[in-house]
Amino acid sequence: MSVRTIAVASDHGGIELKTLLAEELIALGCRVLDLGTEGSASVDYPDFAAKAAEALKAGQAEAAILLCGTGIGISIAANRHAHVRAALVHDAFGARMCRQHNDANVLVMGGRTIGSEVARDCLKIFLETPFEGGRHGRRVAKLGQLGEK
Ligand code: RB5
Repeated sequence: MSVRTIAVASDHGGIELKTLLAEELIALGCRVLDLGTEGSASVDYPDFAAKAAEALKAGQAEAAILLCGTGIGISIAANRHAHVRAALVHDAFGARMCRQHNDANVLVMGGRTIGSEVARDCLKIFLETPFEGGRHGRRVAKLGQLGEK
């Protein structure tokens, strides 16, 4: 089985959770493409959403994990990129559904809003849950068309 490469990126509000989830990804057998940020200095979350979107577009990673303080800003920014389907998730149910129904390619969580064990759980579920396709495929295709407007 080939090793999956997963991009991780955050602003300063998500950096602690980024570090924790990068370690978890390695423990799960993934390769991690860490796109920053690197320290606690204040940075702008749209820049890190853009880095992850570029990595996905270039095929450097097959999925991405994005984090900011709440997850809200970086998910809004990520979804401005037409090929991104970023899901802001707070629990295991959301992590499962965003894969089954939305074929999300970016998992977003809030470093200041989610506990570390819940976040680990969400990550694992996101990675192991396949897209169901069928009627959901039709809807996801329509999302792609919205991106062309
Ligand atoms: C940064 O202080 C904070 O605004 C950011 O991490 C995020 O929560 C924005 O949505």
